[in-house]
Amino acid sequence: MKFFIDTANLNDIQSAYELGVLDGVTTNPSLMAKEGITGKDNILKHYLAICEKVEGDVSAEVIATDYEGMIKEGEELAALHPQIVVKLPMIADGVKACKYFSDKGIKTNVTLVFSAGQALLAAKAGATYVSPFLGRLDDISTDGLRLIEEIRLIYDNYGFETEILSASVRHTMHIINCAKLGSDVMTGPLSAIEGLLKHPLTDSGLEKFLADYQKGNA
Ligand code: E4P
Repeated sequence: MKFFIDTANLNDIQSAYELGVLDGVTTNPSLMAKEGITGKDNILKHYLAICEKVEGDVSAEVIATDYEGMIKEGEELAALHPQIVVKLPMIADGVKACKYFSDKGIKTNVTLVFSAGQALLAAKAGATYVSPFLGRLDDISTDGLRLIEEIRLIYDNYGFETEILSASVRHTMHIINCAKLGSDVMTGPLSAIEGLLKHPLTDSGLEKFLADYQKGNA
């Protein structure tokens, strides 16, 4: 399973990259705003800064909601850097734009996906990635993981190549469960990735190994 980090924070991206497990980055307009990145020029510069920090795909979301606007914006984003993936919302014009970009060989990520039907449409339109929002479904007492399972089944039934990018991952167990269900990619915060490291028996075991070494080599 590929690990993407879901942030526009350059320090967090650097930390995940240094851990050696980072395969890409996803951003969205809210994450950019959280870092205080505003204005078109600054936003484009920030995408470039992210691309320079990592080796994998970097999702950059369009703001337009009409077909022509998405094409114009998406082409500009794709031209910015070869690592850029054009992130499009799951609305009719977003699906049409997805088909346009996939026909041109430009990578896409269809975002704001909350149902198996939406994921099926994204795959039919040739999306590179589909982003089901696991955490936001859990937030409203719906089983987000069940959606990942359904999409996996549908994609495997027909051999769709669209990668399931489990998004809105909030914590470490989400990552583990996505891996169990065969999600191709997950995107989450640094804290969820770092949570995978932790086990008290690792800490106490290491402490004992080092103490025993000290006794014999004092
Ligand atoms: C996905 O690409 C989104 O950026 C993201 O995962 C949304 O996560 P949230 O529900 O925690 O805001």
